[in-house]
Amino acid sequence: MRNDERRHAPEQTMRALVQRSHRGPEDLVLTTGHPRPAPGPGEYLVRVGAAGVNFADTMQTRGTYGGGPHPPYTAGFEAAGEITAVGAGVERPLPVGARVVGTGAGAFAQYMTMPAAGVLPVPAGWSAAQALGMVLNWATALAALRPLGQVEAGETVLVHAAAGGVGQAAVRLARHYGARVVATASPAKHAAVAALGAEEVLDRRRPDLAAEIERRTGGADLVLESVGRDTFEASLSAARPVTGRVVVFGAASGDAAISTHDLVFTHPVQVKGLHIGALAEAAPALYRSLLTELEALIADGVYPPGSPTVHPLAEGPEVLRSLEKGRTSGKHALDPWR
Ligand SMILES: NC(=O)c1ccc[n+]([C@@H]2O[C@H](COP(=O)([O-])OP(=O)(O)OC[C@H]3O[C@@H](n4cnc5c(N)ncnc54)[C@H](OP(=O)(O)O)[C@@H]3O)[C@@H](O)[C@H]2O)c1
Repeated sequence: MRNDERRHAPEQTMRALVQRSHRGPEDLVLTTGHPRPAPGPGEYLVRVGAAGVNFADTMQTRGTYGGGPHPPYTAGFEAAGEITAVGAGVERPLPVGARVVGTGAGAFAQYMTMPAAGVLPVPAGWSAAQALGMVLNWATALAALRPLGQVEAGETVLVHAAAGGVGQAAVRLARHYGARVVATASPAKHAAVAALGAEEVLDRRRPDLAAEIERRTGGADLVLESVGRDTFEASLSAARPVTGRVVVFGAASGDAAISTHDLVFTHPVQVKGLHIGALAEAAPALYRSLLTELEALIADGVYPPGSPTVHPLAEGPEVLRSLEKGRTSGKHALDPWR
């Protein structure tokens, strides 16, 4: 038996956060004695070092995430940690002990399984917590900006929720690609967003948001739209007619609608939808190219190690409540061993 296998010797049960209903984070409960999963075909079993908290986790607790899990379920879907076992049929498997970051069901637990095809190595010298965000926040921001948003140097990019997990990555990347960034965030988060290089930071709640963006920028070439109901109309108005692109990848404030009439007569702009999981499945070569680009960005120091706020597992429900209410800034993570 290898040393690391001995160190993580079979605890057959584990601690996990289990969602018991679709009533929201209040029904997310810390459970001890939860059965430890076993890797199925094509999967790794991973000892979770840190689990990422994402807005989608809050949506899943209320049953509003498309195709999300049904209670009771072990919550969380993003983690970084160490491979402790390899399921059948994994092609060219990474060795037991390799440190990886990826997605899979049940990340808010001491152990989880991950589809082997989707994991990435944790960059050398980075901790598990520092690697969180790579396959969700950064890949989503990169996809929104480059293949979908086709950002060019000198263009103006409007980034909503710019202090958040995806938002911060988007601001950094847009600046790296030579764009001017106009951002929205709650006022308490403006300084953090400005420090990332955003030229203008506005409160998304101001009633004249679209007019103000237009006044300050002359129109946005690209809008990264993840807030939905509260900002969608302003995003469509702020985008330049014809050449302006609006990439929609979330709806933190609730759904918004657009009609064919809107697109033809009121807002003749390019609206594009993005779900990073769907992109990885439907366009694997494009997804791989995003990961290759992220590796280069890491090597160049454009993408630095993450610095999430790490909480003990038991604080998960409170962290989700804060995220749901828009009270968090930056990336948050859970340590299932604390
Ligand atoms: N499609 C995909 O593949 C994909 C992948 C990852 C994330 N996403 C989406 O990207 C967005 C950001 O995700 P994240 O995990 O990085 O979360 P986050 O940005 O850390 O948190 C969401 C932020 O949205 C803003 N917001 C605006 N209206 C809100 C409302 N009514 N309630 C709560 N928050 C509101 C808040 O920032 P301010 O108060 O500063 O505005 C809040 O902090 C989410 O919509 C998420 O679903 C999509």
